[in-house]
Amino acid sequence: MITIAIDGPAASGKGTLSRRIAEEYGFHHLDTGLTYRATAKALLDAGLSLDDEAVAETMAREVELGGLDRSVLSAHAIGEAASKIAVMPAVRRALVEAQRGFSRKEPGTVLDGRDIGTVVCPDAAVKLYVTASPEVRAKRRYDEIIAGGGTADYGAIFEDVKKRDERDMGRADSPLKPAEDAHLLDTSEMGIEAAFQAAKTLIDAALKEK
Ligand code: DC
Repeated sequence: MITIAIDGPAASGKGTLSRRIAEEYGFHHLDTGLTYRATAKALLDAGLSLDDEAVAETMAREVELGGLDRSVLSAHAIGEAASKIAVMPAVRRALVEAQRGFSRKEPGTVLDGRDIGTVVCPDAAVKLYVTASPEVRAKRRYDEIIAGGGTADYGAIFEDVKKRDERDMGRADSPLKPAEDAHLLDTSEMGIEAAFQAAKTLIDAALKEK
């Protein structure tokens, strides 16, 4: 069993990179952001408060990792709500427990999120911290929405990316930051394909060591 931990801010390219790696090696993949989003959606759907930690924890414990689908969890309001409940220690404890269980699957797993290398899987064989400038990330979000036939305001998306970064990096419990032993991949400079090749070299070396 081998675990690959991939962290980074929203729209850094870590999701695309994680899926490519999982496909290449036949590993199970968990996008841990979806566990926070599913908890938030359950609260919103039930008309429950986003400020009650005990209620949010109960919802977090009911999240089924098998059925998570980004297409039904991608709404902006769900992302905002997820980022709010992600500051609650009881919610994090519940979701981290489930994520750790997932990380032990054979033959290997790729988990991506904000605290995988630092908190969820500190013993991961390979840790990557994927980043890109806020401008590049906002442009990626903008292009995604336009490609999907929607309308978007680049300035508003840019502000949103910065606000989300502040919340993810500034929270007291498990803030977004690179693990000390993480390899940094800046996709604003290298692009996602080059990041994949760099990741592959690191993973192949880790597999050889096993
Ligand atoms: O990656 P995303 O936008 O789907 O994540 C939604 C929110 O969940 C994000 O604001 C931060 C939070 N999150 C977290 O705190 N820890 C993780 N491992 C993954 C996501």
